[in-house]
Parts: sequence; structure tokens; C-alpha cells
Amino acid sequence: MSTNIKTDDLIYPYFVISGKGKAEEIGSFPGQRRFSIDKLLADIKESADLGLNKVLIFGVPAGKDKEGSFAYLKGNIVSAAVKEVKKQFPKVKVMTDVCLCAYTSHGHCGILKRHRKQIDLAATLDVLSKIAVAHAQAGADYVAPSAMAQGQVEAIRKALNEAGHKRTKIMGYSAKFASSFYGPFRNAAGSAPKFGDRRAYQLDYRHRKNALREIGDDIGEGADIVMVKPALSYLDIIRDVRSEYRTPLAAYNVSGEYVFVKYGARKGLWRERDIVFEIMTSIKRAGADFIITYHAKDIARWLKE
Ligand code: PBG
Repeated sequence: MSTNIKTDDLIYPYFVISGKGKAEEIGSFPGQRRFSIDKLLADIKESADLGLNKVLIFGVPAGKDKEGSFAYLKGNIVSAAVKEVKKQFPKVKVMTDVCLCAYTSHGHCGILKRHRKQIDLAATLDVLSKIAVAHAQAGADYVAPSAMAQGQVEAIRKALNEAGHKRTKIMGYSAKFASSFYGPFRNAAGSAPKFGDRRAYQLDYRHRKNALREIGDDIGEGADIVMVKPALSYLDIIRDVRSEYRTPLAAYNVSGEYVFVKYGARKGLWRERDIVFEIMTSIKRAGADFIITYHAKDIARWLKE
């Protein structure tokens, strides 16, 4: 397999907020912004003109509650964005993050049991399915469940089929580790947990085998693309998955990995372009087919030069 980086390999994440005319800088996250839908469309036009054809949309909702209902109720921010993006850029593949952490008042990725700080799996699968169906209805090409709730791909597949969305695909955040590298993202999406951490549902980075098991489960449940996240500290896992399975594989070059590069470049420690190509090549060499990265637009620009 070629390790050359192409725009077709890249998936560019976007954060969407309500309102108009907004393109807010994100303090912790140099070079990334939160866009209202009108500005999002303008930015996606730039991306598409550069040859990028896959975007991953994260919603930053106007409100939060215990049930995360802002994630799926009529008029939710992601569905609204997807509708407009698909209308204007039918060729761009639109993927949506399906999770609850940005929508729940407690900041966890699932619904909690009534008097206990524990995830209620059945309730969580139910809400994740509602979110996926809402996104599919709006025209998402892929829904990407990232809550690490057991059985989420199967539950979502079933719900999509029942709602008549057999053609909507699923990209599972299959092997998602409990990682410190998500720091800048949580700031961008306002999704940090209010208490505790995510170790009850995200993977323990000390173990390799669990990741392969999670990937196998997601493939069995019907995932069209599986994912390893983060990427750089997990290249061995990417390689393991590639050797074991044929399913298309994405690696998420996450926010913390991105800011490392940015801060170093600003300090003159390295040339941004050089280090980005080295990193992307290493992720492809390990075996990823797709890379979700905040560098995508820069890479597309560099590839054109
Ligand atoms: C939501 C989610 C997270 C990321 C993507 N989807 C954060 C988390 O698990 O807290 C992180 C992405 C990044 O750091 O770039 N569950």
C-alpha cells in the first residue's frame, strides 16, 4: 500500500455552533474555529476547492440536559448543518460524531443511572440511536458513534435500517483510548466531564488486546469503517488492526497531537510542513486508510503547491 498522502485519505473535523456570522477562534486550539452554519459553508467551500471531500461534524449545542436531548431534537445543530452542507456540496461526504458528552450536563458520553454515577447502557443506546437517525434523516453519509457504549454499532445499524436509512454508513470509533491527548478538543466542544473521567468506557492504554477485540466487535456489528484513536501513541494498534482485518481503517490524529505540532512550529523548533508529512506518513505506514486530522486543510494546500 502506498504511503503517499492524498486528499482522498483525509477527513477534516468541524465544530458547529448556532447563530450567524460566527467563526470563533478556540483559545486552546490554534488554527481551529467554531463556525455558525453560514461560515461553515464558506469554509467547507475552501476545503472542497482544495480537494478535500470528507468532513466530520461536531455540534456545540446551545443547551445541555441530563438526557442530551439537544443532540437529536428537531432543529439540533448537527442536523441543521448537515442539511445545508449536503445541499450545497453533494459530493462532500459528511460524517457526524454521535456522542453525548457535549450535550449532557454532566459531560459524560452516555446517560447516567438515576442515583449512581454509572452509565445506563440501555438508555444510552436508545439515545445514540435517536441521534444517528436524526443525522441520517438530515443527509449524513456516515454516522460515527464515539461514546464507546457496548453494542452501539449494532443498535445504531438496527435503528437506521428500521427508519429506512439502509444506505447510511457507520464509522465506529472502535478502539478509543482514555487519553490525555483529547484536552484541546474538550475545550473546543465544551465536553469535559464534570466529575470523574472516561476510564469506565474508554480503553486502558496499557493493553493491546482489548483494542483488537473492540475492533472485531464493531466489524461484527456492521461498522463500515473502524477507527483507532488517538493515532501517534497507538501506531502499534493501527498495525495490529491492519494485519488482522480488511475493513477500512481510520486513525484519529487528535487535538493534543495537533497542538504539539503547532506550538513547536511557532517556537521555531521544526518546519510545520515537514513534521506534518512525517506524522501523516507514519500513520499511513502503520496501516490506516483514512486520517482524521485538523491539519487536513494545510496538507491539501501543501499538496497543491
Ligand atoms: C467525544 C469525542 C472526543 C474526541 C472526539 N469525539 C473527546 C473525548 O472522548 O473526550 C476527541 C477528539 C480530539 O481530541 O481531537 N466523545
